[in-house]
Amino acid sequence: MNAGFQLLPTTHPLPAAEREEILAAPGFGRFFTDHMASATWTKEGGWHDFRVTALEPISLHPGSAVLHYAQEIFEGLKAFRHDDGSIWLFRPDLNARRFVNSARRLALPVLSEELFVESVEALVRADEAWVPPHEGGRSLYLRPFMFGSEAFLGVRPAAQVTYGVIASPAASYFSSGLSGVTLWVSENYARAGKGGTGAAKCGGNYASSLAAQVEAQENGCDQVLYLSDDEERYLEESGTMNLFLVTADGELVTPGLGTILDGVTRDSVLELAAEHGLKPAQRQVSLAQLREGCASGEITELFASGTAAVITPILGFKGREYEQSVGGGIPGEVTTNLRNHILNIQYGQAPDTRNWLRRV
Ligand code: COI
Repeated sequence: MNAGFQLLPTTHPLPAAEREEILAAPGFGRFFTDHMASATWTKEGGWHDFRVTALEPISLHPGSAVLHYAQEIFEGLKAFRHDDGSIWLFRPDLNARRFVNSARRLALPVLSEELFVESVEALVRADEAWVPPHEGGRSLYLRPFMFGSEAFLGVRPAAQVTYGVIASPAASYFSSGLSGVTLWVSENYARAGKGGTGAAKCGGNYASSLAAQVEAQENGCDQVLYLSDDEERYLEESGTMNLFLVTADGELVTPGLGTILDGVTRDSVLELAAEHGLKPAQRQVSLAQLREGCASGEITELFASGTAAVITPILGFKGREYEQSVGGGIPGEVTTNLRNHILNIQYGQAPDTRNWLRRV
């Protein structure tokens, strides 16, 4: 179905000179493009009012469900400009599918995968001039989201829901992105439990991560390493990223799905592993195994993956009574090669043998 996210002619684009200044050094998440896509769902009428309009504040009733019960989900994907000027999305079908799964978990209505991709493409077309050239790892980060906008204080799924897509030119998520980050192993906070919302990309997961993130920074670390809430204390993920470890005998291991986010970059790394001479494995790794493996040299590299973070080396981790560096505290060769491979596919500089790119 083609709903036609229509571009309404009421836009006030930023002057080109100001836009170019932003695109030269966008940072991450600080600037927004001229437009947004949106649609509304009601229980009686289903999805309607598909639009691309000028980016503007959303007016909400103070009783809106999202403000009280956090009925909200979101996605993150990027548009990349190739050397010939063409613009491409990376595996948007996977984001669309995950958005459907997140919606089901948060009792929000399903937006079809076709409409999801159509809305993203419509926004990228409207804001085509905001897709930066790729030098410096730049792209246009796209943020689809959906929330309960019905004004009603009873706890039940909202009967009115708002969908939107906004866009923000982006460079590296971490200022130390290429050189690597350190992780804080939190004793005080868990990210998810069985039956919870760990696999959904919902705002609540990120809200509950903030206190742990503050704790990590107070302890001199960049991000949190979350563990399972059982006695074994298995590695889960790192709040904004999935985790991988590389072993001396050529395995590429990542925690299995269940209570973690089903990352698009995670899936891509697993698929590319064989091309790098690695054996991919999805299995549980306990904190004790991680500590022993890094100390003995059996685990040679640790890295994190995510749309915003791409592939980020993890140089070490620490808890209350220990500190462990990984791979000598410098980014490993496997990590660097996988990062370059993914970026080269995204920027059209390595063959896209799996048809992961979709031209806008
Ligand atoms: C992403 O990697 O796209 C994310 O959503 C993580 C973060 C920026 C919240």
